[in-house]
Amino acid sequence: MFNELIVKTLPLVPKALVRRFASRYVAGEKLAEALEVVERLNGEGCMATLDVLGEDILDLSETEKTVVEYRHALEAIAQKKLDSNISVKLTALGLKIDPAECRRQFSRILESALQIGSFVRVDMEDSSVTEETIRIYFEARRTSERVGLVLQAYLHRSRADARRAADAKANVRVCKGIYVEPPEVALQGRKEIRDNYSAMVDTLLEAGAYVGIATHDPVLVERALATIARLKLPREAYEFQMLLGVAVEMRRKLVAAGHRLRVYVPYGESWQGYSMRRLKENPAIAGYIVKGILSGGV
Ligand code: FDA
Repeated sequence: MFNELIVKTLPLVPKALVRRFASRYVAGEKLAEALEVVERLNGEGCMATLDVLGEDILDLSETEKTVVEYRHALEAIAQKKLDSNISVKLTALGLKIDPAECRRQFSRILESALQIGSFVRVDMEDSSVTEETIRIYFEARRTSERVGLVLQAYLHRSRADARRAADAKANVRVCKGIYVEPPEVALQGRKEIRDNYSAMVDTLLEAGAYVGIATHDPVLVERALATIARLKLPREAYEFQMLLGVAVEMRRKLVAAGHRLRVYVPYGESWQGYSMRRLKENPAIAGYIVKGILSGGV
């Protein structure tokens, strides 16, 4: 209730204030600002993944700009020798408008990434595009192993998808899932989602797949650490992943303990739309932000 009230009043919040909230979670509008953040994170022993903001485009002409921006980002990563790969949302490349065009634009980004020996993670979006996103991932995987998938623990289908990904030894980021989905499609309870998350991580790690353990939930981090210890996995077999500006203390502890950790670094001109959309999709995040303000952390 409280969170929903915050979301309803959000449009009334002055842009400058929203920008102040967003500045903790978004690296900036320009590539140069994002590169500075990546450099700082690398200095703290963290890897990064750059995300050019923009999703669910309305016009296919917008895809060109996104592809060009990713190419610039990849060139800069190579030139500055930064430890960062990229994360791409297929709806920003027109998945919902023209899947063939989306495939063409995605291959251009992948090609640029492969030229510099980088890696492309395909973010997972709402359930209307899950099947097609997984299909495009497996198609790309035929070209190279330097491409990764994301599976969302809240989807009923994800246990089966994790099994398939484990058999293919895919590189998988496991996250809870951020989009609001109906009960027919997704688990709704905190415990059920956590249990599904851990089961998927275990399936993948036991099969020898590389896993991006993307969570700030201390319970899930502890469970993943227990599996890593049980399987005696080397640090190269997995990585933790967190969002920029979130759970910074836990991030530092994991790095200090010798684990690989990657920070998701979104940037771009669509930061305001992105922030507002995220807040509307998942009002719980509004609660985190208010908590952050009250604790003086924002
Ligand atoms: P939970 O929601 O229980 O959060 C645990 C604690 O972390 C909270 O109590 C709070 O303190 C803090 N926290 C979490 N999220 C926060 C936020 N946004 N701001 C401030 N504090 C926050 N989802 C998706 O559907 N598709 C995707 O491709 C991705 N990609 C992705 C990459 C990476 C690196 C991460 C870390 C997450 C994603 N997600 C995602 C989002 C994911 O699905 C999920 O919504 C969030 O990670 C929150 O879930 P937690 O597991 O952190 O647990």
